[in-house]
Amino acid sequence: MAVSRIGYISLYVTDLDAARRHYVDVVGLRETDRDATGRIYLQAADNQDHHCLILTEASHAGIDHVAFKVGEAEDLTEAQAAVSARGMTVRAVAAGDVLGAGAAIAFTLPSGQEMRLLHHLDKIGYATGMRNPNPVPPHGKPGARVTHLDHLLLAGERPADTAQFLIEVLDFNLSEQVVAPDGSVIAAFTTCGHTMHDLAIAPGPNGHLHHIAFGLESRSDVIGAVDIMKEAGTTLMEYGPSRHGVSGVTTIYFFDPAGNRNEVYNGAYQAGGVPGLVPPIVWQAQEFPRGAFYYESVVPESFFAETT
Ligand SMILES: [Fe+2]
Repeated sequence: MAVSRIGYISLYVTDLDAARRHYVDVVGLRETDRDATGRIYLQAADNQDHHCLILTEASHAGIDHVAFKVGEAEDLTEAQAAVSARGMTVRAVAAGDVLGAGAAIAFTLPSGQEMRLLHHLDKIGYATGMRNPNPVPPHGKPGARVTHLDHLLLAGERPADTAQFLIEVLDFNLSEQVVAPDGSVIAAFTTCGHTMHDLAIAPGPNGHLHHIAFGLESRSDVIGAVDIMKEAGTTLMEYGPSRHGVSGVTTIYFFDPAGNRNEVYNGAYQAGGVPGLVPPIVWQAQEFPRGAFYYESVVPESFFAETT
């Protein structure tokens, strides 16, 4: 299987204009399109694809679906067979179901969220242009210096089931995991690309989203992002910036106006390779507070209680 990287996340928001202001003026994405239903499409600076985020207005926050890209168009046929063989229902999604996207297959993860696989997203170029570009975005560009959509953390009542599916059926690699004293998996961090996680799964209600995360160019950009958020009145997590023990990144969590948790971060280590070849880091459950927040070694109660 050749799932290569995250393509985009489609989110529900309760106020489209407020969400757009957040993701453009605070996070630093650019609006790339709008469709007839009112959905807003956004992309980060260092990605040529049509979008990495879709905002759909709804009565509630949460995740609509997440789409991952495969390396070749033929990989979709292989993926369809592999997912079907697992006993899961696979739905064909026509090209153009969302703007800029080619045909996709869709299925429901064991944790209840819809996942899609697709090969094609229209290319619209980098934010800095494609002909004799400047190497940096224009001075005064709104928002944080986000380079790309990096990963997401899903909630699930049985996280191990989704992790197993990703690893056994879609050939994701397990880079880190949190393990209970009885050996059962509490949370899993899996990758299909070059860094240590593209999709992670932790305890919580099925179908829910824990957070989506955007990459920054440097650790100091995390500080810059917090300055922007404080000025904008963005709701931040109780504390931070911090460092995760898991992954080692410098990070800050905050919320969009609908309550979807966001993260911006820098410093993920490289973790590609052949699935199963590199043993995963193991965190014992009693050490997980240090794994979650290395400086504070405390996990706020809201961290797993609040999902969308
Ligand atoms: Fe994260």
